[in-house]
Amino acid sequence: MGPSVMKKGLLLIALVVGGGCALFLYAAATRGLSAREAPSAAEAYATRTFRRWAVPANARLLRNPVPPNPETLRHGMEHWADHCATCHANDGSGKTTIGTNLYPKAPDMREKETQSLTDGELYYIIRNGVRMTGMPAWGNPEDGENDHETWTLVLFIRHLPQLGEEEKHLMSTLNPKTPSEIEEERQEEEFLSGKDLSKHKSTNGRKQ
Ligand code: HEC
Repeated sequence: MGPSVMKKGLLLIALVVGGGCALFLYAAATRGLSAREAPSAAEAYATRTFRRWAVPANARLLRNPVPPNPETLRHGMEHWADHCATCHANDGSGKTTIGTNLYPKAPDMREKETQSLTDGELYYIIRNGVRMTGMPAWGNPEDGENDHETWTLVLFIRHLPQLGEEEKHLMSTLNPKTPSEIEEERQEEEFLSGKDLSKHKSTNGRKQ
């Protein structure tokens, strides 16, 4: 191979690599890598179909061993308000700051797409999470198919389409709070109960 042939080869490689980089940058600049956009219909369909295949057939057929009654539903509701509502919202709409800005978004779980999943599929998704999405895996892996908590969550997801205003209100009191929200509530309570705030502040040594 003569030096001129080698030079041409290198030039070709540089052109291909450079062209590839330019294309990627162009795509990123025009479409972006933003998580704000919603996936296209084709992408959403492909990922859902793939996810359905990824749930083993025996997992899909699992029956919920926990019977629906006020106590088990309440358990699921409390767990949901505490761990799931940050992304999925108390009513399951997914309309929260995090839920709407993930890619893919947290879906509206009251809709057919979610409600038509089997109990086993819901259980499997909660226990295993969904790779490459914001959905984490929950519970202790050793509990296998008998994680009582997760099954109460499945019951609660089934209840989402009928969730009442009173229940939503109750849930808002069960949502996790930041330390500053807790502090704010404490101060409000103290103020309402007529305690002297300034005295308390000086004893715990914190400046506002
Ligand atoms: C950090 C955000 C986040 C949290 C917290 C979270 N999820 Fe999710 N979840 C998601 C996202 C995003 C998806 C959509 C994944 C996808 O498109 O495949 C999802 C999907 C799901 C699905 C599948 C619904 C469907 O139709 O695709 C179920 C069921 C689910 N989550 C249950 C739960 C439960 C129960 C909890 C609490 C124990 C929880 N999630 C907590 C982000 C979250």
